Amino acid sequence: MKVDEIMDIALRRGFIFPASEIYGGVSGFWEYGHLGTLLKRNWEDAWRKHFLGLDNNYYEISTTNIMPKPVFEGSGHLKNFNDPLTSCLKCNQRFRADDLIQDAIGRNVEELTPEEMFELIKGEGIVCPKCKGELGEVNWFNMMFDLNIGAAGGLTGYLRPETAQGSFVSFKRMYEVLRNRMPMGLAILGRVYRNEISPRQGFFRLREFNQAELQIFFDPDNLGVHEEFDMVADCMLRVKPLDSEENIEMSCKELSEKYDIGQFYVYHMAKIQEFYMDIIGIPKEKFRFRELSEKERAFYNKLHWDIEVDMETLGGFKEVAGIHYRTDHDLSGHLNMSKQNLQVNIEGKKFVPHVLELSFGVDRNFWALLDLFYVKEEERTLFRFNPSMAPIKVAVFPLLNKPALKEKAMEIYKDLRNLFQTDYDRGGSIGRRYRRQDEVGTPFGVTVDFDTVEKGQITIRDRDTMEQVTVPVEDIKKELVERVLGV
Ligand code: GAP
Repeated sequence: MKVDEIMDIALRRGFIFPASEIYGGVSGFWEYGHLGTLLKRNWEDAWRKHFLGLDNNYYEISTTNIMPKPVFEGSGHLKNFNDPLTSCLKCNQRFRADDLIQDAIGRNVEELTPEEMFELIKGEGIVCPKCKGELGEVNWFNMMFDLNIGAAGGLTGYLRPETAQGSFVSFKRMYEVLRNRMPMGLAILGRVYRNEISPRQGFFRLREFNQAELQIFFDPDNLGVHEEFDMVADCMLRVKPLDSEENIEMSCKELSEKYDIGQFYVYHMAKIQEFYMDIIGIPKEKFRFRELSEKERAFYNKLHWDIEVDMETLGGFKEVAGIHYRTDHDLSGHLNMSKQNLQVNIEGKKFVPHVLELSFGVDRNFWALLDLFYVKEEERTLFRFNPSMAPIKVAVFPLLNKPALKEKAMEIYKDLRNLFQTDYDRGGSIGRRYRRQDEVGTPFGVTVDFDTVEKGQITIRDRDTMEQVTVPVEDIKKELVERVLGV
């Protein structure tokens, strides 16, 4: 199966592997190997470049992973950040009730209360999947990891369950530092922690994972407008609104008017789709925005569309990101809790800013790259990553194990590695070396042979077409820059 083939490469070649592997690992925790780290970093860098480039007042900050209890009282996470939990009365195994029901009867019950889920479990005769024992009542389980701060204890802290709270608690200072301008965007990329009841589907639901989130603070009276909306008005978005069974295409203008969604929100939808299509290179039919119902959406959201990607390894469209209209939920919560004034005053108008959140799960996007760009051909497997995403951009190969060729290849490798992530590979037949690089998605190979040494000619091989072109050795940098950066 495709998932096994990808996982085999991921483990064998250093993309990802289970954390604390030599001790048997713990589900929901994974490590990134050297190629995985490069691929993840490329995705994150592309994200930064695209989304921070949307406005000259959008910036990245970096905040703590551990935050004190009042932060999560203010945000509402202590009360509301829950999943439904049931336990087997016979073997005591614990399960996420909605997953259990979905697996047993194929119904999505995210909208149901714990009581309704318990009724369904009894009514449908659903039993413990491990021992067939009877299942107990369904109760909410808070997903945050708590900890004691300091040697004496007594000060409770939590590992952040989303990066977003760092932006909210930094809002007051950053608004002043950035000279009181609105909209203001604060992005955070980093680790988050959730004590998922049943981490599953391999790399999809994790307990420690990475988010890339941009909180955009704005005047709620401006939700209906965006000064660059005209530039995206005709852009066709692929969407699945609540009233449609199908994925449909609709222009930004039509979406905004038909569903009364503010231009400020729809503009950012267009930019998200642009990111996936033009930068990551995802085919349009593999992408959609799905609208979430009031019961499905997170407790802090007034409007919530998920970004979903169709992944064969996960059986269809799966959430990789979300675009959330959080209103003033968080800032007002922190205002009440901290008693700090989090209002702004713009030309005499005082208000608590509202927030539009662009929230991406980095690890899920990473997996989507592996899933969507994996290709199996008769004689080889490859990842057809966009060159900008590929962990290694160029591999340099001396054709034969001869000192003159190795020396020249090493010289070219040293020169190229100042420009790109470059590999030098001299082991095995040239065919095997090409396959090895194809398998990890390296888009270009540079082969040094006697023509390089004697006539100054060098060969560039293209991963996707396997075609080879010969260019003068002094042009190699220019040729590769054009191919890798597409300029
Ligand atoms: N700040 C808003 C927020 O955290 P979310 O929908 O809970 O919203 C955002 O999470 C993204 O984080 C999701 O779209 C998903 O890509 C990723 N994500 C959520 N839970 C995850 C988990 N357990 N493992 C891996 N990624 C997860």
